[in-house]
This record gives sequence, C-alpha cells and structure tokens, in this order.
Amino acid sequence: MEKLNEHVNYFPRKEQAILMCLHTIQSYYGYIPPASLRPLADMLELPLSQVEQVVAFYDMFDRETPAKHRIRVCVSIVCHFLGKAKLLRALEKNLGIKPGQVTPDGRFKIVPAQCLGACSEAPVFMVDEDTYKFESEEDLNEILSRYT
Ligand code: FES
Repeated sequence: MEKLNEHVNYFPRKEQAILMCLHTIQSYYGYIPPASLRPLADMLELPLSQVEQVVAFYDMFDRETPAKHRIRVCVSIVCHFLGKAKLLRALEKNLGIKPGQVTPDGRFKIVPAQCLGACSEAPVFMVDEDTYKFESEEDLNEILSRYT
C-alpha cells in the first residue's frame, strides 16, 4: 500500500500511476488478483471498467494463476522464425509445463507474449524483468536455476 501511495503521489495526476501500481501489485502477488482492482480504481479515482481495460490490454499483466516467476516467451514474427518453437520445447522439457501453466511448486509460469522489444536477439524470453536470448538448452537451464 505504501508503494502504491508513492506511485500515486509521484505523478501530477493520479491516473498516470496506473501502470506503476499494476506492476507493483503483480510483483507482490505474482499476478493481478481481481479483488485488487476495485481498491486501485478508487485510489486512482478512475472507473473500475477503465482499470480492467488497462489490465486486459497489456499482456504483461497476468489475471490468472499466480507464480513466483513469470517467463514471457516472445511469439511475434521475428522470434517465431528464429527459434521460438525450440525455445518453448526447451522450457517445456525443463519445467514440465506448457504455456499458460504453472509448475507444481508455483515457481514458474510460461506466458506467451508479443514482441519484447529485443528482436535483434531473437528468440527472446523474459524472466520477470530480465530479458534473455535463447542460446541452448544448457544455457536456459542455467538461467532458470538463478530464480529460486
Ligand atoms: S519479435 Fe521477439 S522480441 Fe521482437
């Protein structure tokens, strides 16, 4: 709550803090709990529907199952042609889950995402806020081991 207030006070208009607040909520809970939207809307003095639309618009916000770490896999055109399928196979093999699923220990969730803005490094994935180029299965396993 303290962090949300910081965001709201930082901007000249309360509604400008919406993305920062949603990022904070997601990193705290591992997703955006539906019950958090009404209090956020009240805090930002926005209609609930507007907050819901923002959450629905950005694929970086997860409205479903929580996970400690979200692995966003770019499924846009450049990554698609430069090895997205191989990256997904390696992730599925390592974690034993498919996109949209959460590992039984709640550690990881694989989420398909649109262009992550690092096309020159394709195929690309993000773990939380960190961006990585997929090089090999071994490299991927090493990266995932850093997230406990
Ligand atoms: S297409 Fe994958 S990062 Fe841009």
